[in-house]
Amino acid sequence: MPESLIRGMVESDLEMVLSWRNHPDVRRYMYTTHEIALKEHRAWFKSVDENPDVDLLIYEEEGLPKGFVNLSRTRSRPVADWGFYVAPGSEKGVGRRLGHSALSFAFSALSLHKVCGQALDFNDRSVRFHLSLGFRQEGRLRDQHYDGKEYRDVVCFGLLENEWEALVSESVL
Ligand SMILES: CC(C)(COP(=O)(O)OP(=O)(O)OC[C@H]1O[C@@H](n2cnc3c(N)ncnc32)[C@H](O)[C@@H]1OP(=O)(O)O)[C@@H](O)C(=O)NCCC(=O)NCCS
Repeated sequence: MPESLIRGMVESDLEMVLSWRNHPDVRRYMYTTHEIALKEHRAWFKSVDENPDVDLLIYEEEGLPKGFVNLSRTRSRPVADWGFYVAPGSEKGVGRRLGHSALSFAFSALSLHKVCGQALDFNDRSVRFHLSLGFRQEGRLRDQHYDGKEYRDVVCFGLLENEWEALVSESVL
C-alpha cells in the first residue's frame, strides 16, 4: 500500500483542483458541467474555506496529490454530504484508497455519525464505488436533476459510523 494522507486544501492547490474539476471525465458527472473559470473557482474557495462546516481535502499518495474530497456538514453537524474525484488518469485503486482515507477522516477526526453521497444515475462507477465502501442505497430521486437536455435520477447513499467501524474491524475493506 502506498503511503497516503489526507490534508486540508490550501490556496496553492486551486489551479490543480480546477484542472481536475474541469476535466471531461470529472465534470460530466457533476451537477454543473460547464467549464469553470479560475475566477469563479477562487470565489467558490473563498466562500467555503472559512466555513467551519465544510472540509475541503486533498488526498495524497507518496507525497503526490491524487484527488479531492469535500465533506459538508451544512444540514446537521454530525451528518455530512460528501463529494469527490480522483485526479484524471490516476491508476486503478486510487479511488478506493481515497474513499477509505476520506471516510476514516470523517468518522475518526470529525467524529461524524453519518456520511451521505449522491450520484447521477448514469455514474455507474460512483454507484459501484459507494456500494463497495459499505454505503447502502437509501433512495432514488426520480427526475431530480435537469442537465439542460433531459431529467436524470439521483441515487442516494448513506453510511453510518457503526457500519463503517464494523467493516473496518472485520477487515472487509
Ligand atoms: C468516482 C470515483 C472516485 C470512483 O473511483 P474508482 O474509479 O472506483 O477508483 P478505483 O481506482 O478504485 O477503481 C477503478 C476501477 O478499477 C478497479 N480496480 C481497483 N483496483 C484494482 C486493481 N488493483 N486491479 C484491477 N482493478 C482494480 C475498480 O474495481 C474499478 O472498477 P470499476 O470501474 O469496474 O468499478 C472515480 O471514478 C472518479 O473520480 N470519477 C469522476 C468523478 C465522479 O464521478 N465523482 C463522484 C460523483 S458522485
